Amino acid sequence: MKTTEENEPKTKPSSSDLQNKILEKGKELFSLSDSFEDGLFSTYRLFSKSLLFLENRPLLKLQAFRFADLFPSLSSLSSISRYIRIYFVETPTELPKWILLILSLLLSNPFSSVFVALGAKIGIRLTAKFFILGRTYGSDRKKILDRYKNGICSTIDILGEAVLSEKEAERYIHEYLLLLEEVSKDKELSEIRSSQFPGEPAGNVSVKCSSLYSQLDPLAHESSVTHLMEKLRPILSSAVSKNIFINLDMEQYETKDIIMDTAFRIFSEPEFQDYPHFGIVVQAYLKSSQRDLQRVIEYSKKRKYPLTVRLVKGAYWEYEMTQSAQKGWEPPVFLIKSETDRNYEECSALLLKSYPHIRPAFGSHNIRSLSSAFVKAAEYSVPENFFEVQMLYGMGNSYKQAIRSLGISVREYSPIGEVIPGMAYLVRRLLENSTNEGFLKNINANSKDRERLLYLENPKSK
Ligand code: 2OP
Repeated sequence: MKTTEENEPKTKPSSSDLQNKILEKGKELFSLSDSFEDGLFSTYRLFSKSLLFLENRPLLKLQAFRFADLFPSLSSLSSISRYIRIYFVETPTELPKWILLILSLLLSNPFSSVFVALGAKIGIRLTAKFFILGRTYGSDRKKILDRYKNGICSTIDILGEAVLSEKEAERYIHEYLLLLEEVSKDKELSEIRSSQFPGEPAGNVSVKCSSLYSQLDPLAHESSVTHLMEKLRPILSSAVSKNIFINLDMEQYETKDIIMDTAFRIFSEPEFQDYPHFGIVVQAYLKSSQRDLQRVIEYSKKRKYPLTVRLVKGAYWEYEMTQSAQKGWEPPVFLIKSETDRNYEECSALLLKSYPHIRPAFGSHNIRSLSSAFVKAAEYSVPENFFEVQMLYGMGNSYKQAIRSLGISVREYSPIGEVIPGMAYLVRRLLENSTNEGFLKNINANSKDRERLLYLENPKSK
């Protein structure tokens, strides 16, 4: 796909040259990350290893995620233990026999079943602690400040999505407005920011559109867009008055075009058209992603300041596959992980070619994908301060430090809120962390495997 006025590389390297450079960059990142690793027995390592218990147990995984989905609606310990019995004891399961035996024994007695339910509750809370920054900005801002002091910026997101009523949506709008207020009034944050990150806006917030309007519906595209614009307007206005960056997150495929069209229309309103701090997301697992990206590039070229595009692989793969199977549709996502990886690199190149019309934010924990983006940025002479890397709170801390030490900015996606509205977010993190593909493959790899991970796999060889 060719755009007008493309940013061309000075000299076009051969593909083996490029591969060698990516390999070298990847090795450098892996070895730098080792020096920032908090030991072989870091809590995250132990946690992720324990999640791998689910890896070759698809039925158990499904049961665990169904239970996690149901968990927010279980109000008493007795209902929690009742559903543990239904999901894990009375249904065929892949739990090892000895665990099943202990579980059935404990659940057969009302007194000990309370302990099983409490154990599940504590397990979910501990898991949440890994991936959720805190309950509110006010209560947990110290964690954000500490990260800024260590050179890691944040984008804060309020947990919650797919609201069912307008009352709930209004509450989220109010919470976002409050968050913007709190961030802009945080003097300490402003001091650290202006001394360490002079070019940064006063804060950075990521918004999930499905938490702002309960009737997002692709069959009512126009009305969804106009309603969403109405909901977003006060948030964007407040952000502009406080010089805070706003990113509109992408969610399920069915809302992708609504969010894109909303972004293009609202960002073009007189109040917002010259604001430099807006961003949206492109998900490389979507077959439509290169077309989507091209639309964003063409739109951004018309703006005074470039939009930021967070390029991610996408976190709703299981959802998209189940949805399309149920509806008998062609899945909108690539079926094989290596096709997504390859497409991520093609999208990265499109972003870099569009310099200076788009600010790329490479959202990935994959060392090969990031190394390839860094090497290509150098080929296209895109300055290192023009792009950044984004990673999730709780994942890949040593990678974040390693990338920082190369002089590249890193931003952490930091969700705040309660566990119950954050359950869907947690389930997506557990899905990513319970398969030895992608991220975990990287952190658990020994040095021989690491080298293999720095090559793109050929999907046809699968
Ligand atoms: C998610 O909510 C990080 O936006 C991504 O899963």
